[in-house]
Amino acid sequence: MQNLQQWAAHRAGIPLDEAFVIDDKPSVYQTIGHRTFVRLSTEFYNRVYEDSEQAWFRDIFAAIPKEDAIRNQYEFFIQRMGGPPLYSKRKGHPALIARHAPFTVTLPAAERWLEHMRAALDEVATPGEIPEGAPDESVWGVEGGVSPEGQGYVDAASRARMWNFLKHTAWFIAGAQEVRRGGTLDMGGGQQSNGLGEGSS
Ligand code: HEM
Repeated sequence: MQNLQQWAAHRAGIPLDEAFVIDDKPSVYQTIGHRTFVRLSTEFYNRVYEDSEQAWFRDIFAAIPKEDAIRNQYEFFIQRMGGPPLYSKRKGHPALIARHAPFTVTLPAAERWLEHMRAALDEVATPGEIPEGAPDESVWGVEGGVSPEGQGYVDAASRARMWNFLKHTAWFIAGAQEVRRGGTLDMGGGQQSNGLGEGSS
């Protein structure tokens, strides 16, 4: 698992400690606010489900209703970035490696995932409405007292924190599957990692 983390950091070009600046205070959740996550995940999955340019990528999600995917993602992001544990309350441990196991997450899929996430982050860099396609407001999970309005958009500093974490995690998930398929993870200087332990992040 440690090798996998090192490879993900190498592949992402982001040192591990920078990927986990996501854990610093004040949290991204406090800064950008609850609804900004609903907005981001809706922007992201609207792009994914409409990806006619790379239909193979869109098809990875074919069995999952878009609103479910949006909700799973924003609940996870909210809890991971300093908000209430909405995801775990509903579904248990995020176990990202195990939960992605039914889907084929190749290295090109990680690239495409990140491209859509970059575009979604661009979209939420300024204040705006939650777009069409979002789950019903009754499941946004905003609770009094733990629902900071925040600023309603993703500023450059928050974006850098989110991006470094998301990029690391995308390569972490894809790298884990690469190893499961019997591949090796090239560390550049001839170092290879193929020692993925069991378990999940
Ligand atoms: C779920 C693909 C990266 C977090 C899913 C699903 C697919 C998928 C097909 C099923 C949809 C659903 O049931 O919600 C991918 C691909 C990735 C990727 C191709 C490229 C590397 C990431 C990253 C994160 C993430 C970087 C977190 C930072 C999640 C979460 C779920 C999910 C929390 C919900 C799991 C569940 O509740 O079953 N992903 N994903 N994914 N993904 Fe990803």
